[in-house]
Amino acid sequence: MENAIYLDEVDSTNSYIKRRLANNDGFADGCAVTARLQTAGRGRLGHDWAANEDMLPLSILFKDPPERENLTARVGLAVCEAIESCYDGGTFDAAPVAGIKWANDIIIASRKVCGILCESVFFGDCANVIVGIGVNVSQSADFFETADLPHAASLLMLTGIAPERERLFENIVERVKFRAAMPFAECYGEYKRRVLNLGRQVKIISPIGERVAEAVDVAPNGFLVCRDESGVFEVNSGEVSVRGIDGYL
Ligand code: BTN
Repeated sequence: MENAIYLDEVDSTNSYIKRRLANNDGFADGCAVTARLQTAGRGRLGHDWAANEDMLPLSILFKDPPERENLTARVGLAVCEAIESCYDGGTFDAAPVAGIKWANDIIIASRKVCGILCESVFFGDCANVIVGIGVNVSQSADFFETADLPHAASLLMLTGIAPERERLFENIVERVKFRAAMPFAECYGEYKRRVLNLGRQVKIISPIGERVAEAVDVAPNGFLVCRDESGVFEVNSGEVSVRGIDGYL
């Protein structure tokens, strides 16, 4: 694939792009990087992202992407489509159906199979967004048990078949770029259809505290519309984390 870098080992694919940007060495818009092994992956809210060689890490650079506030939403949609497409045309009893736990988690059969970490790096007037995606491809149940991740699972565990890594990587990169170039208005219907939190209780965690509410809708800008006793309000994925109240979702 053009504009793609395949590494054997890396600390974090997001950090790799950050370093290339800091060195100003021409890492171009739309370039992607993946590695066979990521040793120090980073998740949201300062968490580590556990991995072995059975997890697929990748990052893509977008320079000044349009509608930055809902890029994560469009990436989530593209990842769902890419994962599902890897099972098209195969001999599968039940091809997986992927949904989104707003805003960053990709879910199949109530288990997290992928996380997304978008990081902005500003140089002058240019907002670079590094989109990091980690897909649980073929880890065993033991891996998640040892890492104390009861809500996570791999595609292999859930479907009995692991997509081929390079094909999955290229499929995700192509579809993410396609959705990232598309106005959110054209993604909205399909995105909303995949958001699994709607109609459920959520706990919204922000730097100023926690708030329990019902997730009722997705706004036309991709924000999550919630309702509690004080009324209806919108939350922006850049500012908060949303957790389910009953179980994971
Ligand atoms: C999350 O769910 O907390 C987000 C996890 C994002 C992990 C990916 S793996 C590839 C990229 N590089 C990183 O260090 N993190 C992201």
